[in-house]
Amino acid sequence: MTQSLKGQVALVTGASSGIGFGVAEALANAGASVAINYHSHAESAEKLAASIEKTGRQAFAIGADVSDEAEIDAMFDAVKKRFGTVDIVVANSGLQKDASFVDMTLADWNTVMNVNLAGQFLTAQRAVREFLRRGPRPVSKALGKIICMSSVHEVIPWAGHVNYAASKGGIQMMMKSLAQEVAPHRIRVNAIAPGAIRTPINRDAWDSKEALEKLLKLVPYGRIGEIDDIGRAAVWLASDESDYVVGTTLYVDGGMTLYPGFADNG
Ligand code: BGC
Repeated sequence: MTQSLKGQVALVTGASSGIGFGVAEALANAGASVAINYHSHAESAEKLAASIEKTGRQAFAIGADVSDEAEIDAMFDAVKKRFGTVDIVVANSGLQKDASFVDMTLADWNTVMNVNLAGQFLTAQRAVREFLRRGPRPVSKALGKIICMSSVHEVIPWAGHVNYAASKGGIQMMMKSLAQEVAPHRIRVNAIAPGAIRTPINRDAWDSKEALEKLLKLVPYGRIGEIDDIGRAAVWLASDESDYVVGTTLYVDGGMTLYPGFADNG
């Protein structure tokens, strides 16, 4: 892989597993120093940091609940203390609390909204403040880059998951509105909308042959996504290769958003 992110500092939230883990690893492979945020799985975040350090890059694990303002501030302080500043922020933390609509509790609704939407708001806000505070750096054409981890469910309705789909729909407009607001400062805000990626969050959808067959009916490209598919997209969006890409959602979904049910004339 090219060293397109050499000299840059990245923070990835929710990076102790799944997509965040893969994105942190990919950014490090592209030359970035990486702060690996975790909420509850310190051990796997520490392990990832250690394995990145072995390759000669810098990394450290930092715990924080992204829905807690004080913890977000402490996390950004820790990143600044360790690396001086941050150039790339990936607001990735997210979770599902699935329930049928009639059974969904307010707690299920609030937890998902707080982590997925308010968490990205707080993360992106602190990122913007830091980019503006420290001004341009020679490592990138942009003042800073923010990548919001969305989902195909920012546009695909999802029965049994209204809290999750609503949070991702919110991310879409938050990302675009923020991108419009900060683009004049040369801050690039974009989103990645993954489809079905093989991670713990959707294990039920791929860990048996029957489930996988059913899932693949929704994926025209005929395979489940791997975290590396998202990692490569994140490296590109974070690099100067995508310098003119502003306020865009990059769907990385094997065609899941192409209405595969219409492939046979509907
Ligand atoms: C969800 C997964 C789901 C995928 C495609 C993701 O945003 O977190 O559980 O498999 O969308 O439906």
